[in-house]
Amino acid sequence: EQIKKGNYDHFMQKEIHEQPHSLTTTMRGRLKDNSVVLGGLKEHLKTIRHSRRIIFIGCGTSYNAALAARPLFEELSGIPVTMELASDLQDRQGPIYREDTAVFVSQSGETADTLLALEYALANGALCVGVTNTVGSTLARKTHCGIHINAGCEIGVASTKAYTSQIVAMAMMALAIGADRISTQARRQAIVDDLSNLPYKISEVLKLDGEMRDLAESLIDTQSLLVFGRGYNYATALEGALKVKEVALMHSEGMLAGEMKHGPLALVDETLPIIVIATRDGCFSKQQSVIQQLHARKGRLIVMCSEGDASSVRPVESCKVIEVPQVADCLQPVINIIPLQLLAYHLTVQRGYDVDQPRNLAKSVTTQ
Ligand code: AGP
Repeated sequence: EQIKKGNYDHFMQKEIHEQPHSLTTTMRGRLKDNSVVLGGLKEHLKTIRHSRRIIFIGCGTSYNAALAARPLFEELSGIPVTMELASDLQDRQGPIYREDTAVFVSQSGETADTLLALEYALANGALCVGVTNTVGSTLARKTHCGIHINAGCEIGVASTKAYTSQIVAMAMMALAIGADRISTQARRQAIVDDLSNLPYKISEVLKLDGEMRDLAESLIDTQSLLVFGRGYNYATALEGALKVKEVALMHSEGMLAGEMKHGPLALVDETLPIIVIATRDGCFSKQQSVIQQLHARKGRLIVMCSEGDASSVRPVESCKVIEVPQVADCLQPVINIIPLQLLAYHLTVQRGYDVDQPRNLAKSVTTQ
C-alpha cells in the first residue's frame, strides 16, 4: 500500500496531485484537428442531437460533475437538460420517454441507485449513455453507448480526480454533440484550446497546497462552513462542501448564491466562515454584490477569484482571498474545485480523521 501511495501520505492526497496526469489521459487521442472525437458515441450522436431532452442521472460527486457540465450542454446542444439524483428519480418514478437521452454518470459504474435508475430508463425506451471510470462495469455494459473517463484507479473514498475527469469528459461530449452547429464554431474552438492547456493550469493551481493547509489551520475548530457559488460554479459549491463534509466530518453546505436572500442570509455572523466563489464569468458582478451584502452583515468571508482580481473582490484588506488561474468559463469548475479538495484534505489531517476511509462510508454504494 505504501508503494502505491508513492511519496504521499494518503491516497486522497495522491489523487488530488495526480490531476494534471489524469486529465491528460481523459483527453488523450480525443482532441483531434481542433475538434473532439469520441469513438464510444460516434454512432449515436445523431440520435442524441434529435432528442427532446437530455437527463443527467447520478449520485454524490458524479451528480455534481454532471451539474457542472449542464450549462455547456444546454449552450452547445440547444436541448433542454434536466438533472436527476438517481434515488430521487426512483422515489418519484419520474417520467422518462423514448425521445430522451439519459446520461448516467458513475465513477465506479456499480452504484445501486444509479443502476436501478438505468434499468428504469431502459424500460422506458430512452437512449442510455454511460460516463464511467470503470471499464467492464455494470454501467458500461448495460448502457447503449458512452465514454470512459480514463482517470485511472481511484482508491480514496472521497472522489477527486474522477470528478475533474468526469467534467472534462462531459465537456468533450457537449462539444461532440454541438459539432454540427456553425454558429458556435469559435466558442467550441476556444474551449478545445483551453482543454489542451488544462493540465498545465491544474499544476499551477496545485501550488496553492501550502496556502490551503494554512487556511485549514484557521478553520480547524469551526463547527460549520458554507460555500456559495452560482452558474458554472454552483456545482463547485456543492462538491467543495461535500468533500469537507465527508472527510473532515465538518458540517458544510454548498449553496446557490442566488438563493442567499431567501433564507441562508439569516445564518451570517462574524463566526461562520463562508467561501464565495467569484471567478470571472457572466455571474461575476452578481457575486461581487453577494460579497458586499455578506460583508455588510459582518460575514467571515473567504473569496475565490481569478488571478489579479483580489482588489476587485476583497471588501476589506483582511479578507482571505484564494486566487486561481482563469480558463474558459465552462472549464473553470475543474480549476476551482482543486483548492477546495486541498482544503478538505488538510482539514481532515489536522482534525485527526481517517482521510481515505471516512467513517460510515464505502467507495462504492452497491446497496440501496
Ligand atoms: C464522492 O466523494 C462520494 N464518495 C460519493 O458521493 C460518490 O460520488 C457517490 O457514491 C457516487 O459514486 P459513483 O460515482 O461510483 O456512482
